[in-house]
Amino acid sequence: MSIPGSRQKSLHLSGGKAEIFSGRLGCSYHSQESTRTVKEALEESGRFLRERKIENPRLNAEIMLGYVLGKSYSDLCLEPHRLLSFSQLTKLRKLLIKRSRHQPLSYLVGREDFMNLSFLVNSKVYIPRPETEVLVEEVLKSLRPLSETEAPRRAAIIDLGTGCGNIAISLATELPEAIVYAVDISGEALKVAASNAELYHLKDRIIFLKGDLFHPLKGINLTGRVDAIVSNPPYVTRDEMENLQPEVRNEPEIALDGGEKGLEFYQRIVPLTSRFLRRGGLLALEIGYGQIEKIKDMIACQEDMQPPLIIKDYQGIERIVLSKKKVAGER
Ligand SMILES: C[S@@+](CC[C@H](N)C(=O)[O-])C[C@H]1O[C@@H](n2cnc3c(N)ncnc32)[C@H](O)[C@@H]1O
Repeated sequence: MSIPGSRQKSLHLSGGKAEIFSGRLGCSYHSQESTRTVKEALEESGRFLRERKIENPRLNAEIMLGYVLGKSYSDLCLEPHRLLSFSQLTKLRKLLIKRSRHQPLSYLVGREDFMNLSFLVNSKVYIPRPETEVLVEEVLKSLRPLSETEAPRRAAIIDLGTGCGNIAISLATELPEAIVYAVDISGEALKVAASNAELYHLKDRIIFLKGDLFHPLKGINLTGRVDAIVSNPPYVTRDEMENLQPEVRNEPEIALDGGEKGLEFYQRIVPLTSRFLRRGGLLALEIGYGQIEKIKDMIACQEDMQPPLIIKDYQGIERIVLSKKKVAGER
């Protein structure tokens, strides 16, 4: 049997004031339970993170404790006086230390929510962001049947830079006949994406391909047959890469770095889209702050693409660019 006092000592790393690290375990050798209740653990964890200037400390504490106990926050609220076991307390403390060192919460709990689905994530993948939900919603508006009587189409979709597969899987979930070609240059990201597709029973409708943007699609006859090309490519500028928030610095560089001006991926994607899209097919891109004019110019250079429609994100920033391939005879 382990001696709780010694285990606790080895975790006494933080030098912080919060009691969750204070050494006061108040334990008995014969008990598996610490003297910490759910309520106390939440309060102390929140205080610990607040002292270390972690944003939303209480929410972080709730999510981490919920993860450790395998419970939702509402479950935790129902049992504020439940005692944590020593192993649960130890696990919580380890997570708190990592979080105080700015490891992203999603990596610590291994999950992130997106479009009402929960995705497995790890440090090899970009963490899905809420603004990308706007991108998915716009693609859905364009591809969903117009009325309940219209049968769903077997749409072909390309997702460039799929990461954990959040865009591809959300689209395939909402469009039950669609086939998604999900590309990423990172084999490690594709592994995570494949696990997510398995979780949602979508492996037969999402084809994962490893490689550089359109390259891995070469062997597949998709010319002029694709209904939508969707991408949230890396778009962080070189200057911004130097000044990333500490949490973002933990995300894969390959998922963020968009070259000198953050535009390199758009410069490569936009000219190739009309080759793949059918007439009336949609190009949908997420873009970075202040990139809109340059991207409008890139699309304007494509004779058979319509002038783009711009959609703002929840913060009012121009975030999504939509452009359709012109139909026959359209100028
Ligand atoms: C910003 S993340 C987007 C992830 C996910 N689609 C999302 O929106 O949350 C960009 C993704 O592009 C991938 N990527 C980077 N360079 C690439 C390339 N040349 N070809 C294909 N994918 C690439 C990265 O590995 C990363 O998964």
